[in-house]
Amino acid sequence: MPAGFDRAGSTRTLDHAAFVSARANGKVILLGEHAVVYGSPAIALGLTSGAEACVRHAECSTLSIGTGERLTSSDRPVGEEPVALRALRELLASLDAPPVEAKTVLAIPAGAGLGASAALGVALARAVTALSGSLAAGSIGRAALAWENVFHGNASGIDTAAAEHGGCLWFTRQGGVSPLRLGSSLQVVVALVEPGASTRLMVEAVAERRRQDPEGVGRVMAAIAGLVEAARQALAAGASGELGSLMLRNQELLVELGVSTPGLDRACGLALGQGALGAKLTGAGGGGCVIALVDGESRTRVLDAWQRVGFSCLEAKAGPDASSALG
Ligand code: PMV
Repeated sequence: MPAGFDRAGSTRTLDHAAFVSARANGKVILLGEHAVVYGSPAIALGLTSGAEACVRHAECSTLSIGTGERLTSSDRPVGEEPVALRALRELLASLDAPPVEAKTVLAIPAGAGLGASAALGVALARAVTALSGSLAAGSIGRAALAWENVFHGNASGIDTAAAEHGGCLWFTRQGGVSPLRLGSSLQVVVALVEPGASTRLMVEAVAERRRQDPEGVGRVMAAIAGLVEAARQALAAGASGELGSLMLRNQELLVELGVSTPGLDRACGLALGQGALGAKLTGAGGGGCVIALVDGESRTRVLDAWQRVGFSCLEAKAGPDASSALG
């Protein structure tokens, strides 16, 4: 944790009186990744771990992530700035805020499809807003998306929306985010299977495939959109078996889009072999994480099987009361 960081949330720290800190959480995508970039809906489930950021006023903007190298903007021309510092400047411009010294720390792996960069963006936007004491409606989401777009180019906004709001969410590019009604508790386990690929490159790869085969990819995108609509009904009815089947079909379509890997496929198979109701990759694919929908019986069996082959695991839950928690 950076010096002066306050784990308690967005309050001024004791040892660095001028620092203000804030947090935001990661997410998994239950269904709908990639299609969401083209306007279809997707469903996200917020984690309760993510990122923490602390900021204070400074002559020029600086940013550190985790225990990494300190990046300073004053001694480099803008075009050569490290990408994260460029993203911070976009975030500050969006908030019309002056330069800050920013220190951040991540509690989830970066580049694994768990929304780490969006969590950083939302935590930074919250901290900067708290520091300047102003909050225009929608400004946190806009600033975090300005940050996220520096990394991802054409981000749909689902990661930043999930980081800002948490819980189980319905998201479309046009309509934004709304909480979903759950008929029963939702138990999802997450395995970090292999290093993730760049979201930007995976989104570009799908765009290229779409340019070459607009009809075929259009059919896949429409089919994914249909699954997401059906999943909303299944979630509201508490129909876990149906939801699991929809996730499985979504994974088959992601395989068709070319974004799964043999490692992700194997991790899905392992979970299904232990009684998971559904399993799929989550996020951009090309590596990263797999999620499995489990019940009381299959939860331990899936986690044990994944841990035996060396995967790090997380859990995400949400209940009819709209709460979510990471185990
Ligand atoms: O950032 P990731 O890896 O969780 O991917 C986000 C989901 C995509 O649909 C692939 C991209 C997007 O911006 O929606």
